[in-house]
Order: sequence, then C-alpha cells, then structure tokens
Amino acid sequence: MVVMLEIKDLTVEVEGKEILRDLNLNIERGEVHVLFGPNGCGKTTLLMTILGFPNYKVTRGSITFKGVDIINLPTNERVKLGMGMSFQHPPEIRGVKLGDMVNIAQGRKEEKIDEDLIALAKRLNISVDFLNRDVNLGFSGGEVKRSEILQLLAQSPDFIMFDEPDSGVDVENIELIGGIMSELLDRNKRPSKRKKAGLIITHSGSIMRYIKADRAHVMLEGRIACSGMPDEITKNIMENGFEKCVELCKRSEEVGAE
Ligand SMILES: Nc1ncnc2c1ncn2[C@@H]1O[C@H](COP(=O)(O)OP(=O)(O)OP(=O)(O)O)[C@@H](O)[C@H]1O
Ligand SMILES: [Mg+2]
Repeated sequence: MVVMLEIKDLTVEVEGKEILRDLNLNIERGEVHVLFGPNGCGKTTLLMTILGFPNYKVTRGSITFKGVDIINLPTNERVKLGMGMSFQHPPEIRGVKLGDMVNIAQGRKEEKIDEDLIALAKRLNISVDFLNRDVNLGFSGGEVKRSEILQLLAQSPDFIMFDEPDSGVDVENIELIGGIMSELLDRNKRPSKRKKAGLIITHSGSIMRYIKADRAHVMLEGRIACSGMPDEITKNIMENGFEKCVELCKRSEEVGAE
C-alpha cells in the first residue's frame, strides 16, 4: 500500500480562529474515504487547507502528498502534483465560459467548443448552450455540481476531494454523478489496479449508494472523532446522530481493546 495523503496533528486557524485541532488522516492510493460531521465542524476547512488556500493558516502539524511535504506549496503546485476538488460553493466567474474552463482543465490548446468537448459534456447531461454560459452564473444548485464534476472529468486528478457533490442534486442526477465519481476514482477497476484516491464529504450519504468507500470518518469540533466501515458509520449516524455515533464508536473500540 502506498500512502497518497498523510495528515499529522494538523491545526488550522481561519481569521485568527482555530478551526481544526490535531487532526490526523491517512489515505492510501486506491482508497476512497467519506467524511461526515455536523455543520460548521470544519469539513470544508480541511479540504481548503489540503488544497492550500491562503486564508487557512496551518499553525501546527504536517500534510504530505505523494511523499512531498506540501505545507508551503501554493495551490497551483499542489494541483500540478495531482490534486483536484469539487467545491461546495464554487465562485461565479464572469466572462469565462464553462467550455473554456473545461478546455483549460484538460490542458487543451483549443479555445473552441469542439466535438470532443461536446461529447464529454454530454456524459453529464450538459448541452452546448450550457458550455457557452459564464461559469456558475445563474446555474441552479444541481447544475453547479454537474459543472464541477465535468471540470474534474476533464482534469482527471490522482487525488480528488468532493465537498458535498450530492447536495441539492435530484435523484437521477445523483446516480449520474455517482457513476462518474466511481469512474474518476477507479472504483470500476479491481482493487490492485486502482491508482486514484478520494475524500468525499456528504450529509445525506445517498451518493454512497453509487460509489463505494473503504473507510468513513466522523468529524466533531475540528477533529476526526471516530472512524470505521462506511455502512456501519452511516447507519449509526442516521439512527443516533453524530455525537451518539462517536460515543458508541469509542465504546466499541474500548471493548475491542480489552
Ligand atoms: N473566513 C472565515 N472567518 C471566520 N470563520 C470562518 C471562516 N471560514 C470558516 N469559518 C468558520 O469555521 C467553521 C468551520 O467551517 P466549515 O465551512 O469548515 O464547516 P463545514 O463542516 O464544512 O460545515 P457545513 O456542513 O455547513 O458545510 C465554521 O464555524 C465557520 O463559520
Ligand atoms: Mg462545508
């Protein structure tokens, strides 16, 4: 097993406020992890920190990606190393068409919307008219999510973080998005052939019907409070809520250790 992402004792401040505390997380090549946690516990903060956004100040700990200490690398260098992300709330970009963004993500020289681009967009039910619109300007909630996944499909990074890819998405599009995520993360290949890795944040867990994860984590107050098998953790959260799930999780770990 090769470690793709290794986070040790990570502590992060945003605007002088400590949001993540002594967080530890390891993701190996070929693995998909899912991250649950209540609103405001720090899930998006973790992803923005991994991608290196300047507002997220690491005050302690380390992040190693593919064996490289990335703490001081700017976001573009991290992307070059093979990271990608679908954002919870991506910005509107006036004057830049979605088609241009997809061409850039794919590293293509073409500036036009050609047959290849149209075929790629079609996989996400995205039309030519839509490719000609400014990125995220007036997109519906579900359209934003599909446009994010389309850009990732063009970029095809080795490690992909998905921040609530299913929120606000209708049932049919969840299945569509889940299928593409599975493909992006090599889930359709045999375990020994899987080269990609991923980290998925979700509240509903419904996306997990279409993409199987290897491990699940529950975050509380800026820390990974417990980890386990995705099906068990999901069921536990749905039945008992986050805090009780963590309590039960810890109790069963203690019993196991005795
Ligand atoms: N720029 C900022 N200034 C002040 N506080 C911030 C800033 N950015 C994030 N925070 C705070 O950090 C905490 C964690 O936010 P984060 O977005 O990581 O939560 P989350 O777990 O992703 O929640 P959700 O499930 O609602 O998306 C919140 O209390 C939020 O208000
Ligand atoms: Mg969030």
